Amino acid sequence: MAINKYKKLIINKYSEYDEETRLVSNRGHNVEFLTTMHYIQKFLKPSDKILEIGAATGRYSIALAKMGYDITAVDLVPQHVEKMRSKTRRLKNFKCITADALDLSIFEDKSFDMVLNLGPMYHLFNKKDKNQAIKETLRVAKKNAICMFAYIPCASFVTGNGLRHQGMSHLYAAMDNMGRIKDVPSEVFTCFYIEDFKKLFDKTSSKYVTNVATDGIAYAMQEWVEQLPKKDYEAFLRWHFMTCERLDQQGYSTHLLYICKKK
Ligand SMILES: C[S@@+](CC[C@H](N)C(=O)[O-])C[C@H]1O[C@@H](n2cnc3c(N)ncnc32)[C@H](O)[C@@H]1O
Repeated sequence: MAINKYKKLIINKYSEYDEETRLVSNRGHNVEFLTTMHYIQKFLKPSDKILEIGAATGRYSIALAKMGYDITAVDLVPQHVEKMRSKTRRLKNFKCITADALDLSIFEDKSFDMVLNLGPMYHLFNKKDKNQAIKETLRVAKKNAICMFAYIPCASFVTGNGLRHQGMSHLYAAMDNMGRIKDVPSEVFTCFYIEDFKKLFDKTSSKYVTNVATDGIAYAMQEWVEQLPKKDYEAFLRWHFMTCERLDQQGYSTHLLYICKKK
């Protein structure tokens, strides 16, 4: 059984953060939700059994359960799971459990048709834990199941923590000489160069499908995106969907989605 050394840190962070409303709080975050849902639905088959790991209060999982899919949602933070439970008492096809992405031993091998790891990779601070979370996610996926992993690219830390929150010198102190931001557990979140994230899958039983810029430039340019009249916002969204798998969109996205298929 893998031990998550940073469990308390993560629980404390989310006790002061409103994860419930994040994805609907502004257009920048909503683009992330719409894009992730678009890719989930693109690969789903009717009656698929889905596991979401790091489901928070259930924004994705509850939407999918309401579409009729069989959903199991887990999160490390008991408060999140309680909230999910209180919102889903009437949904017969929805289960939620407090569990750690590092130890999914409550599930047997090859149990799910799709596995969504949408949050835990933001909060893992050494290679061993990152590999363990990927291994567990793939272990519980059936052969040919689609698995999705959300992660944060390094440039997102520069636009967010560095520029928006004016902490550039602090951030610079945590970089190596290639501009790679090191794992600093006290920062609570961690980020990756895209090639480093892809390398984590080199020796796994998975095949690369695609890498998606889930919010593209929408969050970085939020002030402008927010002011767009409806017609222009819809045109922006159409452009975003046409380009979100392109390499030139990925570096500036606040979140990325690595999609692979279990071998
Ligand atoms: C930023 S939120 C994302 C929530 C939601 N899936 C989404 O994409 O909006 C990250 C979630 O991952 C959860 N989490 C972090 N580390 C985890 C772990 N090791 N195992 C399970 N859940 C974890 C957190 O408690 C939090 O609810």
